[in-house]
Amino acid sequence: MKKKTLWGFLFTCSLLAFLTVESSQNAHAEMMDGHMKGRKMMGNKLNQTVQVFDPTDIKVFTNRLKLPGSSGLLGILNADSQIQLSASEQKTGILPGLKTSLLVYQANYNGKTFINPIIKIKKGDEFSLKFLNNLNEESIIHWHGIKTASKDDGMPQSVVNKGETYQYNFQVNNDAGTYWYHPHPHGQTGKQAYLGLASFYIVDDLQSESLEKSLGLEIGKTDIPLVIQDKRFDKTGKLVYKLNQMNRFMGYYGDTILVNLTPAPYLETEARIYRLRLLNGSNARIYRLAFTKNTDSFPFFIIAGDAGFLDKPYPASEVFLSPGERVEILLDLTKEKSGSELFLKSLEFDPMENEMGGKMKGMMDKDPDLNLQNGQEFYVLKFTVTGSSASTGRIPEKLSVLPGTAEKDVKIRKITISQKDMQWFMNGKQYNMDEYPIEVNKGTREIWEIVNPDLSMPHPMHIHGFQFLVLQRKGSPNQAIKSVIDSQGRLVTDLGYKDTVLVWPGETVRVLIDFTHNYQGTQDYVFHCHILEHEDGGMMLNYRVLE
Ligand code: C2O
Ligand code: CU
Ligand code: CU
Repeated sequence: MKKKTLWGFLFTCSLLAFLTVESSQNAHAEMMDGHMKGRKMMGNKLNQTVQVFDPTDIKVFTNRLKLPGSSGLLGILNADSQIQLSASEQKTGILPGLKTSLLVYQANYNGKTFINPIIKIKKGDEFSLKFLNNLNEESIIHWHGIKTASKDDGMPQSVVNKGETYQYNFQVNNDAGTYWYHPHPHGQTGKQAYLGLASFYIVDDLQSESLEKSLGLEIGKTDIPLVIQDKRFDKTGKLVYKLNQMNRFMGYYGDTILVNLTPAPYLETEARIYRLRLLNGSNARIYRLAFTKNTDSFPFFIIAGDAGFLDKPYPASEVFLSPGERVEILLDLTKEKSGSELFLKSLEFDPMENEMGGKMKGMMDKDPDLNLQNGQEFYVLKFTVTGSSASTGRIPEKLSVLPGTAEKDVKIRKITISQKDMQWFMNGKQYNMDEYPIEVNKGTREIWEIVNPDLSMPHPMHIHGFQFLVLQRKGSPNQAIKSVIDSQGRLVTDLGYKDTVLVWPGETVRVLIDFTHNYQGTQDYVFHCHILEHEDGGMMLNYRVLE
């Protein structure tokens, strides 16, 4: 037996044995007659969850999308002086007629109250924030995608206890882009983020201001941050986060899809160009995003990936978005008539597909507690065009200049993913807070070659402190190859700086990282999988940048 086959055989056996035990406790789905259409009961009797809005049914998209305003939930907070941000538990209305207890970030700033504020700041400005932990356990805020010294990164080592504070002070050196923030206490990140702690961190610069001017964009109205998350609710409206051996291994999925904490949402638009900033804030689910009008594909333009503009808008018909990743798009609705309806949806895919095909198809379709499998097709957000607009802007021809990727004087480092006994490893290791298995030198460049074996699952790999450039993809599955744009196997979203890269089963992704910085002394960061159950389960390594 070849090594590859034996490995896959063991993988299949452990999973199958587990699934057999699980499904015997499974009660079958029953339809409920309620005021919420498409409501389904799932799971076993002990831990019953409710799929509140079935996102495969276009008729349920009747809830007005929550949009960022000047205060309140997802309010835009222009960071020009010290911010006090606390984390605590609060009751919020997510489902019609029910109250859901969430963990949220709250700020009182310039006389206004913000819940999970969208922090907005200009490149070059000083950011200063005091975090107050009012949770009953340790926490810390991590600024995902933001380049900072390790003391400001929100490392697992920086956690503070209930009632304690952590002061952040740094100058923002990132290019304009859509970044975000969430907790990072080791072992608790998945639960805390799932229960609500997450929002955007938006950086502006001269390039983004010129785009805004030319298209007449206004944040919250025509420039819209959209965080997509999947959750499980019980029938009282409570969020359910219950880990077992299988979802620790495969990641925790929900069957109710929320956009900006709105289930089955719709958005009324004008006939104009919109900038959408899409963030996958889910613990584990991957989205294959596309727009449709009637049943036809509706093209859009990709203008930015994780960390800044591409050189120009790229026309696209779909884009994969894995946990932690962002993509910015322009949606041109100028030719749409009033009454026209479009959907943002997630297309079907096979999470287990590798370069040899869909070998593992069906394996994931068996989570007995779940009504919406990873890779299943469903709708995300409905757009209804209600009027025209006076705006005259057009899709720009140019946006920015792409960074160079010359491979001179680089050290190559291999990062190999593996699994054993239903746990995930990187270079055979799991997270140890006091161990630094990767050491790099300040001011040097390295190529990290991330290798995911054939019989694995997709892992979104994320780096703290620095950004990377994707150089090459090898061994990609067909569903990804479909969107490849160059001879290096790269996708449009690979062209700009990134901090999170999806690595499919059987794929090797080479990324270039420049460890130049001007902080004092040795800097410590982490590199990890952004499936939060994988991260919490130890699929994370410390790395150290030596002075
Ligand atoms: Cu968004 Cu270390 O994470
Ligand atoms: Cu991060
Ligand atoms: Cu993973």
